[in-house]
Amino acid sequence: MPEPAPNPFRTGMRRSRAPEPATLVIFGATGDLSRRKLLPAVFGLWQDGLLGSAFNIVGVGRQEMTDESFRDYALEALKTSKETDAILPGSLEKFRELLYYEYGDFATDEVYDRVGKQLDEAENAHGGRKNAVFYLSTPPSLFEPISNGLGRLKLQDESEGWRRIIIEKPFGTTLTTARHLNDVIHSVWDESQVYRIDHYLGKETVQNLMAIRFGNAIFEPIWNRSYVDHVQITAAEDLGLEGRAGYYEEAGILRDMLQNHLMQLFTLVAMEPPVAFDEGAIRDEKVKVLRAVRPIPKEQVGDSAVRGQYGPGTLAGERVPGYREEPGVKPGSSTPTYVAVKFEIENWRWQGVPFFIRTGKRLPKKVTEIAVVFKKPPLGLFPGGLERNVLAFRIQPDEGVSLKFSSKTPGQENQLREVTMDFRYDAFGAGLESPYSRLVLDAMLGDATLFPREDEVDHAWQLVTGMLEAWDGQDAPEFPNYAAGSWGPEAADALMGPDRRWRRL
Ligand code: BG6
Repeated sequence: MPEPAPNPFRTGMRRSRAPEPATLVIFGATGDLSRRKLLPAVFGLWQDGLLGSAFNIVGVGRQEMTDESFRDYALEALKTSKETDAILPGSLEKFRELLYYEYGDFATDEVYDRVGKQLDEAENAHGGRKNAVFYLSTPPSLFEPISNGLGRLKLQDESEGWRRIIIEKPFGTTLTTARHLNDVIHSVWDESQVYRIDHYLGKETVQNLMAIRFGNAIFEPIWNRSYVDHVQITAAEDLGLEGRAGYYEEAGILRDMLQNHLMQLFTLVAMEPPVAFDEGAIRDEKVKVLRAVRPIPKEQVGDSAVRGQYGPGTLAGERVPGYREEPGVKPGSSTPTYVAVKFEIENWRWQGVPFFIRTGKRLPKKVTEIAVVFKKPPLGLFPGGLERNVLAFRIQPDEGVSLKFSSKTPGQENQLREVTMDFRYDAFGAGLESPYSRLVLDAMLGDATLFPREDEVDHAWQLVTGMLEAWDGQDAPEFPNYAAGSWGPEAADALMGPDRRWRRL
């Protein structure tokens, strides 16, 4: 058979940068995130030759295990995770040899002492370069003791190589606790060493937002209040709790999705063009957007935001229980599983253009989309109502971009019909990279562009504080107010006003 012709869209897609020899220390190495996402992502990078000549992983956990049993555990995780790339012959056996494990109580010094010794050994094998990334993939209550423990043993010291810390979300539980956590982290680490991870920023399609906006000339001139009517951002999930009641009862949708993932999508679509494509410039512009958003005070939350919690319902033909019936959830719980909010940005570009954001669990399907909805044409020359053009970024699934506009239907009549022009990401003929591989590699290369900075996280907390104050610990007599498998509470439709509606996705 002849060789297939090379796909022109794939040209230049391999990454050329490789990090210096380094060790990745994963705290929470036997946890869910590490097993399902992190280990497969790192394995994929290593198998693709992107992790440089010398690389090791030290897993750290509270569970007692030897190096050998951790290696068995990790290999099993790689074989069973849906996220693992195709495994090349012999790869697993070689990868296995890169893995080590330490366990202990994160509140004592011993475990950090042993991690330090493991690092020394690995680093001797790496030609003495003392480069390490510490990935905190643990429950948030452990971020503080781990950062302090590493600090007591001076493992953040960069005199003989770089040292960085990656911190999982949620970063804090309120503005106050997030500020406290920042202080704790900064008592050990310089901000330049800190990588707060938000995996949405590692998604190709999220980065594509910036590429489309700033890599093309046709969009920026119309990306403003003169042409845009409003913007809708939706992150819908069909999944429910997935056994995470303990965490979710505390977090709810505001801390789990809105304060981080949705705020990131919001800033990327609203930011000004940066002066350069680097971490300083991009993060500065994102912060400027957040600073310009009109905060929603506690007393006015009812005018700008709607909360919801799912009751029993039907999803994909199956009956599913309501949130309050999920194992581990308090019977009268007022934890929200849905939120819709209207933000307004007070700057020259966006004055008067509302940004509607909604996210929820147990909605009819998993879909994340950003839709820029344009104003109607000023004059109706054709029969029928005038429609708004929509530029929609499909973040997942069916990743792509589509433009909706009106076209004449064939025939004698001057009849218009809405049509769409589609770009689908699969035209590139390559699977999309896991967000975790992109972000781990960036952290190892010292590129913090796709990691939210301290002030960004702080501003994002400020913007959800009114909602937290109005809702946290307050009874929600209206709950449950949407059925599992529906598009959320009816009140979310009213939020849009009379002349706008949520897109049917
Ligand atoms: C996580 C949340 O950060 O993001 C989960 O904790 C949520 O509750 C998940 O399901 C959604 O991520 P993705 O990449 O599947 O859209």
